[in-house]
Order: sequence, then C-alpha cells, then structure tokens
Amino acid sequence: MRAVIAFCVAILPLVIGITWNPPEKATDFSLYQIYPRSYKDSDGDGVGDLRGIIQRLDHLTESNVNALWLSPIYRSPMADFGYDISNFTDIDPTFGTLKDFEDLVKAAHDRNLSLILDFVPNHTSDKHEWFQKSLQGIPPYDNYYVWHPGRVENGTRKPPNNWVSALSGPAWEWRDERQAYYLHQFIKEEPDLNYYNPDVRREMEDVLRFWLDRGIDGIRIDSMKYIYEDERFLDEPLSGLTDDPNNIDYTLRIYTTDQQQTYDILPTWRKILDEYEQPQYIFIEVYANTSSTMKYYHYGADFPFNFDLITNLTRTSTAADIQHIVDSWYENMPEDSTPNWVAGNHDQPRLVARLGDPRARAATMFALLLPGVGVTFNGEEIGMTEQYISWEDTVDPLGCTASKATYQSISRDPARTPFQWDDSVSAGFSTNSHTWLPINKNYKTYNLATEKKDKNSYYTFYEKLSNLKKSPYLKEANLVTKVLDKYVFAFARETEDHGSVYAVTNFGDKASIVDLSVFDNIPRILNVHYASADSKVLPWNKIIQIRRVILPARSVVILTTLDAKF
Ligand code: GLC
Ligand code: MG
Repeated sequence: MRAVIAFCVAILPLVIGITWNPPEKATDFSLYQIYPRSYKDSDGDGVGDLRGIIQRLDHLTESNVNALWLSPIYRSPMADFGYDISNFTDIDPTFGTLKDFEDLVKAAHDRNLSLILDFVPNHTSDKHEWFQKSLQGIPPYDNYYVWHPGRVENGTRKPPNNWVSALSGPAWEWRDERQAYYLHQFIKEEPDLNYYNPDVRREMEDVLRFWLDRGIDGIRIDSMKYIYEDERFLDEPLSGLTDDPNNIDYTLRIYTTDQQQTYDILPTWRKILDEYEQPQYIFIEVYANTSSTMKYYHYGADFPFNFDLITNLTRTSTAADIQHIVDSWYENMPEDSTPNWVAGNHDQPRLVARLGDPRARAATMFALLLPGVGVTFNGEEIGMTEQYISWEDTVDPLGCTASKATYQSISRDPARTPFQWDDSVSAGFSTNSHTWLPINKNYKTYNLATEKKDKNSYYTFYEKLSNLKKSPYLKEANLVTKVLDKYVFAFARETEDHGSVYAVTNFGDKASIVDLSVFDNIPRILNVHYASADSKVLPWNKIIQIRRVILPARSVVILTTLDAKF
C-alpha cells in the first residue's frame, strides 16, 4: 500500500502538469546560448530546430545550466540567419511552429530552466511587410524606416553622409521606388527602424508583449547601441585608421551609436517586462567603451554583456593583463549589480581557436568560477574547434561579401558548425549527412559522448566547473586576485565556513614554480581538484604544499581547501 501511495505521489505532477515556479531573480548563474540552426536537427533537413532543442534539454540540466538564450527563431529570409526578421511574432518554419515554441517553454520550465529570447529591435528584414509598404510610401509605414533623399554633388546623387555599416560598406542603399536612400547599420537586407516614430516604438512593445504572454523569462537585446541615430545626418569624424570609406573602422561612430535616446528607451521596455509576474532578465549586446557599456546597468539592464574575455584576453596576455581584465569589470560596475563573463558567441571565433587548449580552459574557468553570470556558447563546453570552410560552402553574409582571398578572416561560419553530440552520422546532430554548414571533421574524437568518458576532456573539465558553480557556498564566496609570476594569474573564492577554492593559470610557454602563500587566508596544504596538464606533477585528488606549486607551461589548476563543501 505504502509503495502504491509513493508511486502515485511520484507520478502526480506528471499527470496534472507541473506549474512553473520561477526561481527568484539570481545574480550568479549559468547562461547557455543556443544557436538554433546548429544545436540539434529533429526532422532531418540538416538544420537545427525547436524540437531538436527540446530533445536535448537534458544536456543543459546535466551541465548545470540555469537559463538558455536562443538566437533568433522568428520568420526570416535568413540573409543574416535569423537576425533579419520578416515577422517578429511567428516562428520560422525551419525551426518549427508556435506550438513547438510553447512546448519548448514548458519543457524548459519543467526542468527549471529559464528561457531568454533574442530581441532584435534595430532592424527588420527588407522582406518584412513594413519595409515593403514603406518602400511604396504607404502610410503609416512610410515613416517606419530611416529614409533620406541624399545629396546632389556636381549633378550626381550621393548618400546623405559618410556613415559606414557596422558590417562594412556604406550604411545607405538607394531605392528607386522611394527615390530615396534607406539606412542600414548592418547588411542591406536589414533596414534600420526609425525609433523617432512612436508607431515603431508601439509595434516593438507589442512584440515584447507577444512573447512575454507566451511565458518567456527575458530578452537579450541585439545590437542595442545602434538603435537611434542623430537626426541631423552629419558626417561622422574620420578615425584616421584607414582611407577606405567602406572600411568598418573608417569613421568614429559618434552619430550612429550610443545615443542618449538609445538608453532612454530601455526603461520603457523594462517597465513592460516588469508588468509580468515572473522575474524578467534583460541582457544587452554591446561592444563599446567602458562608460557607454556600464551605463546600461543604470537604465534597467540586468547586465550589458562583458566581452572582455573575447576582446582583451589573448595567447600572449600576461598575468597583470588578466588581473586587469578580471578586476576592472567589478570595479567599474555599479554596486550591487550583476557581473557576467562571456567566453564566446556566434559572432566570434571559437574560444579554442582564439586561445588554444588549454589557455581556452582558463577562459572557461574565469567564466564559471568568477562571481556572476557565466555565459557559454553552445559547443564551447566540449571545446569545439573551428572547421575550415571552403569558399563554396561559405554562407555567412559577412564571408560572402568578402573576397575569396579575405573571407576566411571575416566569415563567422567556422564558429557556427553543428554541435558534435557523438560519433554517428553528422555527429549525431542530424540524420542527414548533408548539414547547413559542414560538420567539423574532428567529430569522431571531439564529441559530447566520447568526452564524457575521458577524464582529461574539455567537457569533463566543464562539468567540474559547473558543479562548483552551482554550489550555494561558492555563490557567497568573496574574490581575491593575484599575479604570481609574469604569466601566472590566480584568484581565490573564499568562504568563512565552507572552505575555499583557488584557481590558478599559467599562460606562459614555460613552466613556473609559484608560492600561493601570498593569499592571506590560505592553509598550508590544498587538494588538487583539477589540473589540466602533466598530472604527475599535480595528481588529481592529492594533497600538495602551497609554497612550491609547479605549474607546467600553459596550464590550469583548481585547488580546494580540505574542508571545502563544493
Ligand atoms: C548582432 C548579432 C549578429 C548580427 C547583428 C545584426 O551583432 O549578434 O549575429 O549579424 O547583430 O543583427
Ligand atoms: Mg530541422
């Protein structure tokens, strides 16, 4: 009888459906970015989709992820693989249907995962109905985009000014239909919306409500700094870095980015999100200087992404450089706000391609063991490397508009190849042997299933980090950073009653012997929780003396106090 009752209690939640009890808003958790085309294909068309994501949500729970952010899944002609949106309130058929989306929200919430959508306010697709009507001058859409007649010089018509698209080339495109130029801060298939028009602002607020009504837990705002442009349409000052007027770096973007109105719109969106009961997150995508970046904290963002591990950490970084990277976010961030660390994303070369393994492991360790939100781009938990993609196979618009000689340094395709699940056909990503981007040739060795069995794999390391990160004690721990040698950087996360963890990395090409007693509260001996190289020197789960720690060249070590409860 008792067994029967226990059984009934156990299955009850499944029968009545589990209701989502959203966790309190957190400031220290693990966020995972899914690039939906590349995560998991459920229907064999060679492109990832929402059902595929549902099938592989368990990977996220096993990896101690708390929230997932989906790159765009809306209707799109895919000129920029989903960032060019032709209908903000529908799912692209490549990815599935609104029903699939509802199922995904439920499946995520059943696993206690928060779901964040990519909100792309700056532009639409040129195939969007609004743009098509704007092109024909049909009110009210005629004023939905940034149109300008241009200027006439010596009888020839020229764009209104010298503004350059953020993806290179002029930011203006002429359309005969309107006898005017439209502004596009990204590719020409992505016309910029006119935010001075209250109708546009209202439309985008409705877009937010549409998805909030469907249960999302927040938004990542795409290309935020480009939302408003100065209405005087003046030339931007030249940077002096290049003479090429089509080069991304030709001008200083003082009229096309970081405008005050761009900040002012954020609280209006925050207000809408806060009308909903469950906690709502706002993350901002912005590559800008420190003050323009930090300013978003004051306007309602949970955080602007911290891209310092991408933009400032290199293979030649010294320990002092690394300490500066780590300390400066905490120092510049307003008090009591949420710090965050991004190790990679779909616009950047793969972490391992940038830094090499094991320096890449140090970046992963920073992202997951430093206080705040740790952001992982899908595939980086298994240390995915970059695949050479031929000119013929190149699909990224940035790669395609470059030349055959230069596309490799520009194309974002290599960082977007399908996730390597196992050693079966198409790495277990798809039943189709032809996938939208080629599968990395190394998938037989580098894949989740194989890595789970290998104690030295990237994933095993990631798993260890994620287990530490989820510990409530570590969330409370303070942070102390130290330079131990020219290339040896270390930080401590110390708690009063639950032990401490010491993370050490040697970025140099030579071994180094360091003394950890420079940390004030450190005990004389520590346990080797993890060591990336040469386990004869630092055997796992063995006790070492802290005064003479031998760090092999390019290595990562995690040490814990013997009383550590994580
Ligand atoms: C953001 C996205 C990038 C996209 C661009 C235009 O930077 O991350 O992938 O191309 O915006 O939407
Ligand atoms: Mg598919």
